Amino acid sequence: MCGIVGYIGKDQAAPILLDGLTKLEYRGYDSAGVAVFDGEAIKMVKAKGKIDNLKSRCNNGESLKGTQGIGHTRWATHGEPSDLNAHPHMNAKETLSVVHNGIIENFLELKEKLQKRGYTFLSDTDTEVIVQLLDFYYKGDILSALVETLRRVEGSYSLGILDADDSEHIYAAKKDSPLIIGISESGNFVASDIPAILKYTDKVIILEDNEIVRLSRDSVEIFNMDLEPVDKEIMTIDWDISAAEKGGYEHFMMKEIHEQPKAIRDCISPRIKDSEIMLHELRLTEDEIKDLKKVNIIACGSAYHAGCVGKYVLEECARIPTEVFLASEFRYSDPVVDEGTLAIIISQSGETADTKAAMKEAKRLGARTFAIVNAVGSSIARESDDVMYTWAGPEIAVATTKGYTTQVCSLYLLAMYMGKIRGTLPDESYAEMLKELLLLPEKIESILSEKEHIQYIANRFSGLKDVFFIGRNIDYSAALEASLKLKEISYVHSDAYAAGELKHGTISLIEKGTLVISLATQEKLYGKIVSNMIEVRARGAFVMAVTNEDNKAIEESSDYALYIPKTHHSFTAVLSVIPCQLFAYYVAVEKGCDVDKPRNLAKSVTVE
Ligand code: G6P
Repeated sequence: MCGIVGYIGKDQAAPILLDGLTKLEYRGYDSAGVAVFDGEAIKMVKAKGKIDNLKSRCNNGESLKGTQGIGHTRWATHGEPSDLNAHPHMNAKETLSVVHNGIIENFLELKEKLQKRGYTFLSDTDTEVIVQLLDFYYKGDILSALVETLRRVEGSYSLGILDADDSEHIYAAKKDSPLIIGISESGNFVASDIPAILKYTDKVIILEDNEIVRLSRDSVEIFNMDLEPVDKEIMTIDWDISAAEKGGYEHFMMKEIHEQPKAIRDCISPRIKDSEIMLHELRLTEDEIKDLKKVNIIACGSAYHAGCVGKYVLEECARIPTEVFLASEFRYSDPVVDEGTLAIIISQSGETADTKAAMKEAKRLGARTFAIVNAVGSSIARESDDVMYTWAGPEIAVATTKGYTTQVCSLYLLAMYMGKIRGTLPDESYAEMLKELLLLPEKIESILSEKEHIQYIANRFSGLKDVFFIGRNIDYSAALEASLKLKEISYVHSDAYAAGELKHGTISLIEKGTLVISLATQEKLYGKIVSNMIEVRARGAFVMAVTNEDNKAIEESSDYALYIPKTHHSFTAVLSVIPCQLFAYYVAVEKGCDVDKPRNLAKSVTVE
């Protein structure tokens, strides 16, 4: 989604802004722009399309002089993607310039009021009302004008602001949209996300809602809405810059697929001490955990699919009734939630608008909220009662891989931890599961070492139009994610079905040459899924099975078989998804798709 970078320092601003925007490309965008104050005037360059278009319009930033500026990547919400609608936006006198992430919900009403007072609007954006309001309230003091403006806008925003009357500062503010400050010897930054500034500094301040920032070349001042100073902690980010770049792989997605063993180790190992799971993050007493009546899992996209796996494991280990909700549905339903409900909120970015809103709703209804989040300091992490970080590191490719598998592993830890406390998971099973959990990273490594085989099959099928994924039980949940991966990045139509539902409709879609990918890892259901494979094969489908390494018999009822190492039946979802991620990746590469930035998709969906 939209990205913001701002800089004030000793160096020429525009190349730094363009570099930062490039690091934010993964968020998804359709236009970009920068504005720089050169000591006399604000110079602005904007371009529809990729950042390269913008770079070529300003000679890679060289033609924009000045050491203070703001930049933006826009993902259109109000008004089509165009040069005009791209940010920054300026007032008529061109003395103020604003970049904005989020949505101003009352912009029409504000726009009409301003128009009545003679203001002319150039763009279709909601953002333009901010700069015009700033102009309206500006009486020589930008901070006061900003407070007046923010008091009148409704909705979400993170803002970067340039004032041509102030060659010593840039300004920022936020509410319900992420914003951080970066601090370095050669200048200070504002950004919507850490990778944008990581090349320049690892010292950051995470801003809270209703905070206003004044940055100079060597100082950072943060104020509340009454313009009283606020003290903030400076955090050191321990990701190195290579973590936010491709590290030798052709695509971020492939790099992140290969990072899964490490990400899972980082997620699991620190939480296991002396053969016990330590989940201090769930700040409920043992009695409170025993008294929980039910769990609601709330998420979007792949995080929802992780939740679908979680349901099986929580019910099996902790014997606690668990429902999984799409956040966009939960927030507008009338859910039965009360103090006995634990609402597990899952989000890689921690900024997904629907997930955030659904969490607020669950809280309002009295649930205890427990967030499983990757992005440290994100809104969901901060607003939830408790937070468990997945520690997957930055994920750049739009299609999540390590984000998803670490979410699933977090749910495994939680289910086992609660099962032990509730007395529903026998000690022997707990010990066995723990042993298997710790082996998952090396089992993923062994699947990754077979990737050429998967590439060979993917190339064979890269011309296909429809794929169906089938599975039963946890395999069905993994199939949902496997199918999403394929459609997201390769644009092949793909759907996942509970194998038992085939007969109720989907089988009518099977014709000669249709590919059916069957996830068949649940030993107790082998017979059932094999019957489904035989049924679709009899109607002309090619069947590719993903199964356990000891199930060679599956070759009799499939055209291709991919094997995963044997593990506990609950943990197969983390292994069976790996060959499917690779399959989706290779199909997309073979088709020449933009793997890391699939069309129309955004990494972080911060508007509804
Ligand atoms: C977008 C991403 C998906 C992600 C979903 C939920 O659609 O492309 O990969 O699963 O948002 O995002 P979250 O950050 O809340 O996990």
